[in-house]
Amino acid sequence: GAMSIMVVGGAGYIGAHVVRLLADRGDDVVVVDDLSTGVGERVGDATLVELEVAGESAQERLELLMKERAVTAVIHFAAKKQVGESVERPTWYFRQNVGGLVNLLAAMENTGVGTMIFSSSAAVYGNPDVDIVTEDTGASPINAYGETKLVGEWLMADCARAWGLRWSALRYFNVAGAGWPELGDPAVLNLVPMVLDRLAKGERPKIFGDDYETPDGTCIRDYIHVLDLAHAHLAALDHLGGGETSDAGEHVFNVGTGTGASVREVIEEIGRATGMDVSPDVEPRRPGDPPRLVASPDRITEALGWKAEHGLSDIIRSAWEAWQAGPRRIERVAGTSARAGADQA
Ligand code: UFG
Repeated sequence: GAMSIMVVGGAGYIGAHVVRLLADRGDDVVVVDDLSTGVGERVGDATLVELEVAGESAQERLELLMKERAVTAVIHFAAKKQVGESVERPTWYFRQNVGGLVNLLAAMENTGVGTMIFSSSAAVYGNPDVDIVTEDTGASPINAYGETKLVGEWLMADCARAWGLRWSALRYFNVAGAGWPELGDPAVLNLVPMVLDRLAKGERPKIFGDDYETPDGTCIRDYIHVLDLAHAHLAALDHLGGGETSDAGEHVFNVGTGTGASVREVIEEIGRATGMDVSPDVEPRRPGDPPRLVASPDRITEALGWKAEHGLSDIIRSAWEAWQAGPRRIERVAGTSARAGADQA
C-alpha cells in the first residue's frame, strides 16, 4: 500500500527527483526544506513545510508533523555539501549536518517512525588507494564534510542498537544530469554545471590539473545519473519497509556505476552533446582532489537489485537539456560563439 514519506531537503536537486518518483507512484509525501538552496516549485503537488531541520525548535515541529501525517519513513537529504566551506567552518557543518540528523532521529524515536534513508557520500572514503572502492574499503574522510556524513552513519547504527531504527545510508559518487529538464542541478559547484556555465559565458572550461597519474593526466570519477540515484532511494526504502531482515550489517551502500570517466572525457562528452568548442584551459591542481574515485556497486545490486541504467552520454545530454530549459540557457549564435539567454532578455 501507499506509504507516508517525509522527505527532508526534498526541494533540492536530488531530493526533488525522489519526491517526483514517490508522488508518481502514489505515496503521500511531505517535504521539509528550509529553502536555503532548495526551490519550492520543484516539489510539485507535494506538501511543502518550510523548516530548518537543524534549528532550535525543529524537533518539536518535526514530531507534530510526523504525527499529523502518520509518517512511516524519512528520507533525509538536507545538508551542507561544499568541501572547501566545510574546512573553513567545521562547527557550522557539524551543527547543520549532524545537528539536523540528531533532531530528526530524536523526533522519530519519540513518535515511533522507524525507517530512515540517509544521504551519505563517497567523501567518507577520503583518498582511497584502491582502484575500485567497496563498502569495506576503510572510511577515512579528509575534510569536515566527509566527517559529518560518517558520523551520521555511526549515529544511525547506534540508534538501531538502542531503539531498533531501520536505516540505510547511500554513499553517492559524482551525481549529475536531470531526470526531468526542470529538475536540473541549480548550483554551479560541480564539474558538469561548471563547464556548462563557462560555455554559457563564452569562456573555456577549466581543468584543475592534468598531471595526475591517470591515463590522460586528469582526475577520474564515477558519474551517476541523478535519476538512477533517485531510484536507489526507492529501492532502499522498499527493502526496509518490506519488513525484511536481510541484515548482514548491510546498511551502507555505494551508489555508482563501477565505471570511471576522466575530467577530459567528461568535457569531450559535453562538446559532443552541445556541438560547442570545449577546448579547455589547464589550471593548477585543486587541493584535496583524489586522482581516482570509482565505486563498486556490487553490494547494492546484490542486496537491493538496483543498478545504474544510464551512462555518461545520457548524463551529459540530460544535463544540457535541463540547462537549456533553465534561466541560463545558451543561445548558439551563428553556430560558433555562445552567450547566456538571461543576458538577452
Ligand atoms: N573539475 C575541473 N574543472 C572544473 C570543476 C571540476 O577540472 O571546472 C574537476 C575536479 O578537480 C575533480 C573533478 O572535476 O577532479 C570532479 O569535481 P567535482 O567538484 O564535480 O566533484 P568532486 O569529485 O570533487 O566532489 C564530489 C562531490 C562532493 C564529495 C566529493 C568527494 O561533489 O560532495 O565528491 O567524494 F565530497
